[in-house]
Amino acid sequence: MMNLALAPYTSTLPVRPAPGSYLWWQEGLIYQVYPRSFMDGNGDGVGDLQGILSRLDYLQWLGVDAVWVSPIYPSPMADFGYDISDYTGVHPLFGTIQDFDRLLEEIHRRGMKLILDFVPNHTSDQHPWFLESRSSRDNPKRDWYLWHDPAPNGNPPNNWLSVFGGSGWEWDSTTGQYYYHAFLKEQPDLNWRNPEVQQAMLDAMRYWLDRGVDGFRVDVMWHMIKDAQWRNNPPNPDYRPHLATYEQLLPVYSTDQPEVHQIVAMMRQVLDEYNERMMIGEIYLPINKLVTYYGTNNNGAHLPFNFQLIALPWNARQIALAVDQYEGALPMGGWPNWVLGNHDQPRIASRVGKAQARVAAVLLLTLRGTPTVYYGDEIGMRDVPIAPEFVQDPQGINMPDLNLSRDPERTPMQWDDSPNAGFSTAGPWLPVADNYRRENVKVQRENPNSMLLLYRRLIALRRTEPAFRIGDYIPVPAEVNVMAYMRECGVSRFLVVLNLGHGTCFFMPSNLEIEGTIVLDTIPEREGIAVKRRVSLNGDEAMVVKLK
Ligand code: GLC
Repeated sequence: MMNLALAPYTSTLPVRPAPGSYLWWQEGLIYQVYPRSFMDGNGDGVGDLQGILSRLDYLQWLGVDAVWVSPIYPSPMADFGYDISDYTGVHPLFGTIQDFDRLLEEIHRRGMKLILDFVPNHTSDQHPWFLESRSSRDNPKRDWYLWHDPAPNGNPPNNWLSVFGGSGWEWDSTTGQYYYHAFLKEQPDLNWRNPEVQQAMLDAMRYWLDRGVDGFRVDVMWHMIKDAQWRNNPPNPDYRPHLATYEQLLPVYSTDQPEVHQIVAMMRQVLDEYNERMMIGEIYLPINKLVTYYGTNNNGAHLPFNFQLIALPWNARQIALAVDQYEGALPMGGWPNWVLGNHDQPRIASRVGKAQARVAAVLLLTLRGTPTVYYGDEIGMRDVPIAPEFVQDPQGINMPDLNLSRDPERTPMQWDDSPNAGFSTAGPWLPVADNYRRENVKVQRENPNSMLLLYRRLIALRRTEPAFRIGDYIPVPAEVNVMAYMRECGVSRFLVVLNLGHGTCFFMPSNLEIEGTIVLDTIPEREGIAVKRRVSLNGDEAMVVKLK
């Protein structure tokens, strides 16, 4: 058993600024709003900026510090806004630039921050830049995208695949070349090696920063630069037919290229021209590669998204190990972050079940680092099954047999028990969950045992206890289904014990004299109970013990 006096993370390391000098994106909690599905303000069945505005009091009540809004730019919506046709506008479906300014102002007035989604890897094929680029080979914007001659036999230039199925190359008969698209053919990839592209995109960032946004969530950051020699990707030995066709190859030449870090550093420089702005990078890579996106001497992303709690099996030993590996891999000054779900992934409550989703909430909100909460997870929303003929997500449509549609995790927020769950006065763009009359914000606010109040109390605990916001993470050895750790800041010390299994069990570390009181528990009746030496746990129980 480890000696806890020799805990691996001490507060004397120079990487930690003194308490009080942490930044909002380190101490705060980020909440992701998928704008189409959060709240419809104008009764057309699709969520919008007015809708978000009308729910800010809720977010403030919950304890949200920063709101990340998925794309709201003009877009043909081939990929629901991740295909942008104007980086400096607002899609009429979501409102106007005045609505945006108002939203930003109201968010700031409540002491919160706004993080915009930014999609630099690709534009819409309807963006004026691409329309120009594809108009002729000698158009000045030709080189803004990735055009390539066919292989000698007329086939695509190499074997690169699209994440959304099929080849990554689309033939353009007008100009007799292929263009590359990592996602849909309606989402051509920009050529980030071109300084004009860099300039245009950095200017788009400045446009929003000048308006006052507090940061960006940068879409598919690891895709932004491709191999200069266009080499073929090797086959993936672990590919199995139930996986997306994209998994047939290992994207070693089409993603995560060394030069991407120069681009990320450029973006970071723009942010650093302003006060306390930040960027979160969407990066699906193993830990050792992920942490390189913090940059050299932290000149990269402030928070490279850490998707381990999404990717790993729900297994206490594997998760505990991954947390240690992540903590160990973080560069000096690199701030951790955690997330359980987003608009591309099955919801946590569907993945691990309702009871374990509560354990997951305790984990997310007591680990060291910035948590991001996906809208609806705080009320335990589940994936909603959507019949094949109603699937809207292109990933689901393109690979119908593989169950890859992301619609199920994008259904309307369940606000109350009125028609359409209080989301809209019109029929919503995706169906609301059948259980919305039982599971909604209004009902859960009244129920002290609800998921919503568990979230809120956890968030409040983070707010009041520096041990959770900025304290050290000290793993405590545990067995089988239990995961345990301490959070410590000065004299304030907490023990978190999570039972990731459904059966009862004991937790009795041999080298740690547990003595304290349960201050928060997924079974609220247990709060206030004094614990000494050992803890008995119900199945699916997670607790926070304030140590003496
Ligand atoms: C990111 C987004 C996803 C989108 C893709 C292409 O992964 O999160 O929703 O489809 O990029 O832009």
